[in-house]
Amino acid sequence: MLHPLEELRADALREIECAPNEQALEAARVKYLGKNGSISAWGEQMKLLAKEEKPVLGKLLNEVRAAVTAALEERAEQFRAKKETDALARIDISLPGTPHERGSLHPLTQILDRSIAIFRRMGFALAEGPDIEDEWRCFDALNTPPDHPARNEQDTFYLPDGRLLRTHTSTVQIRAMQAALPPIRVIAPGAAYRRDEVDATHSAQFHQIEGLYVDENVSVADLKGALEFFMRELFGNDTAVRFLPHYFPFTEPSLEVYVKSKAVKGGEQWIEVAGCGMVHPAVFEQVNTARGDDAYDPEKWTGYAFGLGMDRLAMVLFDIPDIRFFAQNDLRFLKQFS
Ligand code: PHE
Repeated sequence: MLHPLEELRADALREIECAPNEQALEAARVKYLGKNGSISAWGEQMKLLAKEEKPVLGKLLNEVRAAVTAALEERAEQFRAKKETDALARIDISLPGTPHERGSLHPLTQILDRSIAIFRRMGFALAEGPDIEDEWRCFDALNTPPDHPARNEQDTFYLPDGRLLRTHTSTVQIRAMQAALPPIRVIAPGAAYRRDEVDATHSAQFHQIEGLYVDENVSVADLKGALEFFMRELFGNDTAVRFLPHYFPFTEPSLEVYVKSKAVKGGEQWIEVAGCGMVHPAVFEQVNTARGDDAYDPEKWTGYAFGLGMDRLAMVLFDIPDIRFFAQNDLRFLKQFS
């Protein structure tokens, strides 16, 4: 004959095995193992048993409790597993996934990064200034007073408060000298703006890298050497570099830089890529006045400055026929540079 505890175990195991869902299983757990459950009740009964009966029945009770606990866990695990398979069954794994497209750097960013890397190797530090600038730093401090004809050529967009979108990154020359004593050697990459008629080679927004080196005994030879090195690093060793006299209010002498390179499609023609020159003493004087000292004494310090057209360089190097492509955000164009 089975002991009532053994019958209880058989009942419990059958009930657990047949539990149709998690609620039924939980009900079974409460019924047998809950605080007022039947197995728990047997635990209470133990206390009343005679001494010699205790070990035998205690052992049996433990076995029953362990068996029921294990059965509960196993059945719960079956429900968990089933839930998971059901969830996965609703997913069609043969459907193509959502493609995760990998972007790439904009061609202008690529040229900018390469150019900055070259100048850094030459010891130039990065400087920056805001796109919205005051008239003084954009023109007056750069030896371009209000009645100067160069202001027409470089006309820009004015804000109601009189500030403007900088027409060149040369504004950062002024900021750099206001902020630090010579010697100074900085480049300033950034956007510039002009009220130009937009066409294949003109845009209302374009990009430059400004360069400024001020020290004792800086000469045109230093300027030419630095820019020649830069052009050859960018376009290749057999690149020819030519300097032609030009005019900028803030440099004297002023030069325009042309390159001729096999890296350029259609190759054998001179392409203008930069303006440069020796910093005009009047610029140093303007900076001194603003600083209220004589830090940039033109008798002691000389310097060169240059402004490289980034859009131009990218167009030449990547053979891009129209400057407007840079800002149109057309993937068919951009993907060619990934
Ligand atoms: N700021 C000039 C331009 O935008 C370029 C330049 C920079 C020329 C520095 C000389 C020195 O055309």
